[in-house]
Amino acid sequence: MKKKLVVANWKMNPESLSEAEKLFEGVKKITTRLKNVQTVIIPPFVYLPALTKKYKGNKISFGAQNVFFESNGSYTGEISIPMLEDMKVDYVIVGHSERRSMGESNEIVHKKIKAVLSSGLVAILCIGEKERDSSADYLSFLKEELVVALRLIPKTQLKNLVVAYEPLWTIGKTEDEAMKSEQVHEMVIFIRKILAERFGKRVAMSVPVLYGGSVEPGNAKDLIKEGEISGFLVGHASLNKDDFNEILKIVNT
Ligand code: PGA
Repeated sequence: MKKKLVVANWKMNPESLSEAEKLFEGVKKITTRLKNVQTVIIPPFVYLPALTKKYKGNKISFGAQNVFFESNGSYTGEISIPMLEDMKVDYVIVGHSERRSMGESNEIVHKKIKAVLSSGLVAILCIGEKERDSSADYLSFLKEELVVALRLIPKTQLKNLVVAYEPLWTIGKTEDEAMKSEQVHEMVIFIRKILAERFGKRVAMSVPVLYGGSVEPGNAKDLIKEGEISGFLVGHASLNKDDFNEILKIVNT
């Protein structure tokens, strides 16, 4: 059985390195016992050097919340792929809705995906509609996000791709407002269908598809059992060690 992936997106939290270390310690213990889950912690950039140095060789992998598509140069405030590789980071989130809402277009997401997939890093490509409409325009919106991001990407590079489906209307809410497992399952089928049109069925089935949006201990079981997903991208619940450990345990069973 392929391991499930549980990704903790800490976003712009916590406020100090000592709190970040404490949170990491709180998750580290349980991960040594998980056989069916690969845990990925994605802290803010500034904590990566200390955390990767201290905890390297652990069962937990590290990721970054964003990346720039050029390797070096005059790009104030940006972080490049070689820098992340030097930090022993394995995963990078591309096109999170919170970045898109700050101006990241499908074109920029494409440039980033292209750069990440030609490196050794795994890209976690986030897609998700803002809202649902009765004429189902949101499906074209999602298709566009996926198709543009993966334009001209060779099929062989898809082994380093993870798609995270995160509908914006479910992010940062409570478990009652998250998507139901049947809806998630439908979306997984939709995403794989689009991937299959471009890359063929075999490749489409091999790309892990995660769900994100108010995953909490209370809804994780249904989503993982019935949603046909490869794992979760967890936001606020990953900042509480007990909640996150509970989610990991649920996914592991
Ligand atoms: P949430 O965030 O779990 O707090 O809804 C998920 C995300 O934005 O990645």
